[in-house]
Order: sequence, then structure tokens, then C-alpha cells
Amino acid sequence: MKIENRLYIVTGGASGLGKQTVKSLVALRGYVGIIDINIEAGNELMKELDEKHAYFPGKADVTSEAQIENALEKIMTHYKDCPLGGAILCSGVVLPPSHIKGYGPENKLTSYQQFKHIIDINLLGTYNVAQKVGDLLLKNQPFGDDGERGIIITTSSIIGLDGAIVGYGTSKAAVAGLALPLARELSEFGIRSISIAPGPFDTPILDTGTDMKAPPCLFPSRYGQPNEFSDTVIHAIINPMFNGSVIRLDGGLRA
Ligand SMILES: NC(=O)c1ccc[n+]([C@@H]2O[C@H](COP(=O)([O-])OP(=O)(O)OC[C@H]3O[C@@H](n4cnc5c(N)ncnc54)[C@H](O)[C@@H]3O)[C@@H](O)[C@H]2O)c1
Repeated sequence: MKIENRLYIVTGGASGLGKQTVKSLVALRGYVGIIDINIEAGNELMKELDEKHAYFPGKADVTSEAQIENALEKIMTHYKDCPLGGAILCSGVVLPPSHIKGYGPENKLTSYQQFKHIIDINLLGTYNVAQKVGDLLLKNQPFGDDGERGIIITTSSIIGLDGAIVGYGTSKAAVAGLALPLARELSEFGIRSISIAPGPFDTPILDTGTDMKAPPCLFPSRYGQPNEFSDTVIHAIINPMFNGSVIRLDGGLRA
């Protein structure tokens, strides 16, 4: 799938990995519809971007079907002459509203409500947008010799693959687990699906407000930079052999 003159939806596009993905797609002359719950950050980002190539329809919560349908309709109308190439789903949270408490007799386990909050945003929110973008991609006329109709890229985490942190890790294991079934169901229509599982990347999400600090990668011995994530996104869009897999992007780190 090419990037130039294609429309991509980026969730969590107002900060961190999503924000850099928006910038990289715009730099390659793609068109981007930004979905994010943070209206201030979304508006701030728009000031930095070529407004012809990026559009933020206002606050949209990935856990709301109505808000996502509304945001997608606005984006599709705004770019009505540009074919939809796919979506990069980066929205996510690490901590529930009150910091995760646990583990042990004094602190108890992560509560059901905390667990549900994380699953709602990271897993159900991801599928909410994937399903609605998937339905739109099915309407595409196939592009190129392979008859490709688009790509859905989700963001998992090594925390999910390596089995750490009850709520967050479970949500991200499930996001990783979605990549292959989604690819199996959509491949006959020329739609690919992959998931990228980053290690620690230098974004605001790492600031937990606690003493908890993510370790650096094995090599390079530092956190990943957002452009190293967006480079992977760009390559996965361009290279049609990426399908159904979960790509670790972790500098050799195991959680
Ligand atoms: N940075 C890391 O170290 C790291 C590592 C592994 C996985 N990830 C994953 O990468 C993704 C991006 O994380 P990041 O580091 O850029 O974090 P970030 O906090 O900088 O960005 C997350 C974005 O998601 C948005 N968001 C949160 N809840 C939302 C909702 N309900 N609806 C719409 N938007 C919502 C936020 O407003 C924010 O703009 C997340 O899914 C995260 O779990 C990050």
C-alpha cells in the first residue's frame, strides 16, 4: 500500500507514538485523520501540521461506538476524494484512574473496575475502531497487482507478550492476539492486519507519576524513539508481506 495520496486514520494521534506516526505520514504526503480523546493536544498538534494533509475532527473516545462513527464520518467527508489506506491504532493507557494497587495481602489485587477500565480502552477501544475502519476498507476498489484494499495496524506491547502487569499486560496480549484472526478474516478481501509490540519508548505514557521506571532496552541501551516506531509503521504499510504477525520492537528487552 502506498502512503502518498492515501488517507490513514491514527488513534491516539495527539501524543507519543501516534503523534509521530501522524507527522511521518504527513511528511510522506499521506493524508491523516486524527482520533484522540485529548482535544487540547489534538488542537496543539494541528498547529504544527500542514492542515491540507491532517484533520482532527475534535474529541473522540475509542470506547464509544457513536463517537468513533461520528469521527470517521467527518474524516471520510473531509477527505472524500482520497482513498482510505488503513488505520494505525495507537490509543492506550497504562494506569487506571487511581494508580494500580497490588500485589499482596496489604494492597490487594488490581480491582475489577481497574481491570475493566484498561480492557475497555486498550482492547475494546482498539477493536471498536478496527471493526469500523475494516468495514470502510471493504468498500475500497482493490489497488495494484495484489488487489490490496488496506491495512490495520494495532499497538500491543512486550508487557503483553511477556506476561507482566495484570490489567495492562492482559489487554496488550489480547491486542497481539487479534492480529492473526483479523488477518485471516480480512485477507480474502485484500486487507492486512499486524500488531507492533514496542518495548519502552520515550513518550509521556512512561511517566507513571510513581517511582516505577521502565528499564532501557538491551541494545541500544536506551528507550526507543517515536520515529523508530513510525518507521516500522511506514515499512509495514509499504511492504505487503507483513500480515498477521506481531512485530517486537524492543531492542532485545524482555519484560
Ligand atoms: N511508550 C511506550 O513505552 C509503549 C510501550 C509499549 C506499548 N505502548 C503502547 O503504544 C500506544 C501509544 O502509547 P504512547 O506511548 O504514545 O502514549 P501516549 O500517552 O503518549 O499516547 C496515548 C494517546 O492515546 C490517547 N487516548 C487515551 N485514551 C483514549 C481514548 N479512550 N480514546 C481516544 N484516545 C485515547 C491519549 O489521549 C494519547 O494521546 C499505547 O497503546 C501504549 O499502550 C507504548
